[in-house]
Amino acid sequence: MEKSSSWSRLLHLSFLALLLSSQPLCCRGSWMWLGITSVGVSEKTGCANLPLSAKQKDVCRRKPYLLASVAEGARLGVSECRTQFRHERWNCSTTREPPGFGNELTSGTKETAFIYAIMAAGLVHAVTRSCSAGNMTECSCDTTLGGSGSPTEGWHWGGCSDDIAYGTWFSRRFIDNMPKNVSTNGDDTLLVMNQHNSEAGRQAIAKTMSTDCRCHGVSGSCAVKTCWRTIAPFERVGSYLKERYENSVQVMDRSKRKFRRKEKEQRRTPISREEFIFLNKSPNYCLEDRRLGVAGTRGRRCNRTSAGPDGCNLLCCGRGYNTHVVRHVERCECKFVWCCYVRCRRCETMNDIHTCK
Ligand SMILES: *[C@@H]1O[C@H](CO)[C@@H](O)[C@H](O)[C@H]1NC(C)=O
Ligand SMILES: *[C@@H]1O[C@H](CO)[C@@H](O)[C@H](O)[C@H]1NC(C)=O
Ligand SMILES: *[C@@H]1O[C@H](CO)[C@@H](O)[C@H](O)[C@H]1NC(C)=O
Ligand SMILES: *[C@@H]1O[C@H](CO)[C@@H](O)[C@H](O)[C@H]1NC(C)=O
Repeated sequence: MEKSSSWSRLLHLSFLALLLSSQPLCCRGSWMWLGITSVGVSEKTGCANLPLSAKQKDVCRRKPYLLASVAEGARLGVSECRTQFRHERWNCSTTREPPGFGNELTSGTKETAFIYAIMAAGLVHAVTRSCSAGNMTECSCDTTLGGSGSPTEGWHWGGCSDDIAYGTWFSRRFIDNMPKNVSTNGDDTLLVMNQHNSEAGRQAIAKTMSTDCRCHGVSGSCAVKTCWRTIAPFERVGSYLKERYENSVQVMDRSKRKFRRKEKEQRRTPISREEFIFLNKSPNYCLEDRRLGVAGTRGRRCNRTSAGPDGCNLLCCGRGYNTHVVRHVERCECKFVWCCYVRCRRCETMNDIHTCK
């Protein structure tokens, strides 16, 4: 039993290696870590056997206790990406075996930008939570705020403020893959784009932090308040990043190391750290294109009455849709009967399901 599971893992890893070796130089290695979510990590697995790049294995050997956070960060990123895009033509579908984002990781589009940002943010989030939970020796709560605050306004910092510095540092170290000596020719354009968007993802954690307070004082009078900074739930980070995605900026190939906006009228406006940048226009994701790794929207469920992206018109790209009637049976009109059981009726409803042609 033990033997066969380690064999299937080996098989899985070699498949992963095969997939990644066919990717352009920019992304080879650095994304193997997604595989961690499916391998099932424990410190006992040993860093050498995990799907990591050489640099990441090195980090892993020195800090094996961080593996659980890496796996959690990857899980957060992937699942939030799916949630944010569940109604869109590109729905952030990932391949399960081996785990990955396919072509979108290297296409240089807005979707590439989102993937890099959310994965980098996921890692900051998971590591920071682990710091605050007291699971780490390198980091804990933010102590820089100390006992300061505003006594006149009746509040002071206290409790455990999330310290994102360590998580941010770790996310950079784990994901960023930039060679020390960046050349000025175009070869590493995609690399620089990805790095920028990963950083935008990390910034999102800082931007969505909020302050929570608790009241003290006689009979809840709130004479004194203790406040602390917390990172937002990851869903909030996800929708923040989705907004950034909608407002992504197309850039031109770098001439002198810096990216410039493609839009003529806005060339002079500098690109901020929080903005997503992309090089290539996205395909419309309507029709299956194996060469581009696009699944198309055929067979996707759509909403006939919605005017949004999940509406049949937009999602099906005007091709029309099929309607099926699905019988749905559930317990209903449940009554509590004295004493002690619940009696329900069986209710049947017929629902129309629409799927894209
Ligand atoms: C902290 O460590 C405990 C025990 O290893 C684990 O169960 C928990 O999930 C960790 N918490 C975080 C936020 O990483
Ligand atoms: C960076 O690369 C250039 C050209 O490839 C080379 O001339 C230069 O010495 C390198 N600098 C460092 C610090 O490695
Ligand atoms: C995402 O799209 C693909 C391709 O159209 C489809 O197979 C998959 O079921 C979709 N996933 C979800 C969660 O809707
Ligand atoms: C379809 O869209 C309408 C309008 O946006 C919404 O009220 C309804 O709940 C949606 N139906 C489903 C099944 O999602």
